[in-house]
Amino acid sequence: MQNNSLVSISDFTKDEMLELLEDMKYFEANPNRRLLEGKVVATLFFEPSTRTRLSFETAVNRLGGRIIGFSDASTTSSSKGETLKDTIMMVNNYVDLIIMRHYLEGAARYASEVSRVPIINAGDGANQHPSQTMLDLYSIYKTQGTLRDLTITMVGDLKYGRTVHSLLMAMSYFNPKFNFVACDELKMPQEYKDFCDEHGIAYTETRDFSPEVINSSDIIYMTRVQRERFTDLMEYERVKNIYNLHNSMLDNSKDNVRILHPLPRVGEISQDVDSNPKAYYFQQAQNGLYARQAIICKVLGIDVKSLRENER
Ligand code: CP
Repeated sequence: MQNNSLVSISDFTKDEMLELLEDMKYFEANPNRRLLEGKVVATLFFEPSTRTRLSFETAVNRLGGRIIGFSDASTTSSSKGETLKDTIMMVNNYVDLIIMRHYLEGAARYASEVSRVPIINAGDGANQHPSQTMLDLYSIYKTQGTLRDLTITMVGDLKYGRTVHSLLMAMSYFNPKFNFVACDELKMPQEYKDFCDEHGIAYTETRDFSPEVINSSDIIYMTRVQRERFTDLMEYERVKNIYNLHNSMLDNSKDNVRILHPLPRVGEISQDVDSNPKAYYFQQAQNGLYARQAIICKVLGIDVKSLRENER
């Protein structure tokens, strides 16, 4: 990791991910630990967010640090033409860590190359969302009791959905089987299918969100069609409502199946699913707090493992 930054989920080894899961468990049991006393963290959000920004900010607050930043770049000097490099150089003068969401793929990588302080990528365009992946792994582990040998069905916008791209790479360590369910316009990009081939990961690719696919799944990972990534809004209108999970579609699903969604949802999951015990998306978002506490500590070099072991 350059500057100890977290740009891509591939910045973590398998062992580091497994250690982070243990740290998350620790923070779930001990949410208030003043490990960031005297530290200032910036959240620079060039794109809208509810969960990622608020859970990162809650994580800093619960760890005893302080937060500065913006959630609307139009109120900053980037709207006057200040470059990303200059913005990062300036914020470096004020803080110990930068958490950034940006609409351009590669923006987080670039920021990490010009920054003296660590950068955490809170989502860069359609590319990566590694902190989401850590909370997804934790959610899968908590609900399945394992990360190994699971059938994971990804549904919806597999082209622009950065969360599925990061998750696919992280799960490659655990012998998954993937079902990719998407229309032709939103298929999983070839580079990720090549990644599966190179790592010996089995996958199917269908347009049909069929009972066979649903009933064979351990995890169904629904995604929103990412309107903000489309250059042709007519194309968005054509595909936006293509998948909708209703409660009755889960009637013959496995007992252990859980429905995940990075949220926000628009129309992909009917509200009648919310009360089904197989729905897990709101708890998944809650897990984001523990994931972000663990990630912040890791990039700042705070040894949570010793803390956990000493408190045993
Ligand atoms: N999952 C996620 O990234 O949500 P927000 O866009 O609300 O941060």
